[in-house]
Amino acid sequence: MEINHFISKNSNSPIAFQTRWEAPSNIALIKYWGKTEPQIPKNPSLSFTLSSSVTKTEVIFTPKSEASFDFEFSFEGVLKPDFHPKLNTFFERIKQYSPWLDSYSLKIDSSNSFPHSSGIASSASAMAALSLCIMDMEKELFPEFESELFIKKASFLARLGSGSASRSIEGPVTFWGKNSSRKESSDLFATPFGQNLHNVFKDYQDTILLVDKGSKPVSSTQGHQLMFDHPYATSRFIQAEQNLNTLASIMETGDLDGFIKIVESEALSLHAMMMTSNPYFILMQPQTLEIIQKIWQFRKETQIPICFTLDAGANVHLLYPMNTKPKVHSFIDDVLAGFCQNRQYLTDSVGTGAKKM
Ligand code: PMV
Repeated sequence: MEINHFISKNSNSPIAFQTRWEAPSNIALIKYWGKTEPQIPKNPSLSFTLSSSVTKTEVIFTPKSEASFDFEFSFEGVLKPDFHPKLNTFFERIKQYSPWLDSYSLKIDSSNSFPHSSGIASSASAMAALSLCIMDMEKELFPEFESELFIKKASFLARLGSGSASRSIEGPVTFWGKNSSRKESSDLFATPFGQNLHNVFKDYQDTILLVDKGSKPVSSTQGHQLMFDHPYATSRFIQAEQNLNTLASIMETGDLDGFIKIVESEALSLHAMMMTSNPYFILMQPQTLEIIQKIWQFRKETQIPICFTLDAGANVHLLYPMNTKPKVHSFIDDVLAGFCQNRQYLTDSVGTGAKKM
């Protein structure tokens, strides 16, 4: 699908409309780090869509007499003008694809299921939920809309808000970025893994160990930027694509040892890029490393196939198959919680994607 498939018609009969969508967060197993304008990834990525960590967004669309788009954003009912710059950039990028927006005023209200400032990035779930509300309105204006285009354009718009948000529309596993293991893959939107996903990954568990709930010293926008003249960028982009191809076949066979090797290597490669940027930076905390050591020790002693991945932050995502849950939960409570801020962690699992509420 080419970029011009995403340009909608304009509408000459504006209508009032209200809609509410819930979209999940996602955790990348193959990491996207480095992009070009407009939000085109330098390498393909693959992620687990989560289930409990979601953003719920309601949008009220009110027609305006003169063409001059505006919006108001509130979080849990409280107006948040500090979110306007990011949203302005998003709307500026998407208006060429949904030009009817110019005849509306939008009232947006969002809330997250996960605790506020828990260090969990909400931009993926937030941009996905907002994009679905916009697409729902577009479908209302143009009822002939095909459902396949609805999903793809929602992912396409979400990508323009935050790259990883493109992967928060569908589940349980999605690809984003052109790659040789999926001919339908695209840099413009995410696509689902497909029929061949091994059952073990359909209800995989993710416990997010909250090491640091503060804001990050370097944002992911700055981090992506630093990949431009990074000495290892070219080899990192090649490595990510190779890892993605290998992981895509592993996720069909269910080889958990192979899964662990790639997933942990990807997490550490992402952080290695941060540590070797100019300027260099470290987002891990001492507890991040202590948790990693404890995970390795537990895996060695018990042969239970748990592993970790990291986002652009200090928190650790502990990944494990559903059938190991009782033993892993005891390990979390007895050992890992002690390294978390106020012993806090979030229990989540792989999910099926966004829903209309
Ligand atoms: O979507 P962004 O621009 O916030 O970047 C996300 C980058 C990582 O979370 C580190 C990796 C990924 O693929 O989600």
